[in-house]
Amino acid sequence: MKRVVQLDINGSPYDVMVAPNETLADVVRRKLGMTGTKLGCEQGDCGACTVLIDGKSHLSCLTLAVASEGKEITTIEGLESDGQLDPVQQAVLEKHGVQCGICTPGVIMSAKGLLNDNPKPSHDEVVVGLSGNLCRCTGYEKIFDAINAVANGEYDDVRPTEAGGE
Ligand code: FES
Ligand code: FES
Repeated sequence: MKRVVQLDINGSPYDVMVAPNETLADVVRRKLGMTGTKLGCEQGDCGACTVLIDGKSHLSCLTLAVASEGKEITTIEGLESDGQLDPVQQAVLEKHGVQCGICTPGVIMSAKGLLNDNPKPSHDEVVVGLSGNLCRCTGYEKIFDAINAVANGEYDDVRPTEAGGE
């Protein structure tokens, strides 16, 4: 039976009527119009739907909306602040880690989750941290360059990478 859940998304509360089997991805995209979160496979394989829940990256296509109540959800729309891109967004842009862009929101949210857990990951830890995000265009190296640059402090003057973190 459908019921209203209150979801905390990007710092704002949303009361949404959802079915028990409705995914968080469907709710943010189709009911709330936050289409920055992408859907690719819808079965946990591609990472395009990655969001942060309580600061950790999760696949929103495999997460039930009802199970997300009471948690702090961050989508790609929640990273920008006062017109200023998040450092990871800025780095991916400047290091040419974007081509078609379908994977990019998920890549950035996975990178945010990784950096929340480990602010100074090694290159190998970045590769492992993004291993759930498929990209058909870039060959990954530019994406890794961008996240390594953030980890190495190159974007420290953009602004702190606090979104969804502790
Ligand atoms: S759409 Fe969720 S993992 Fe592919
Ligand atoms: S930029 Fe096209 S799939 Fe990654």
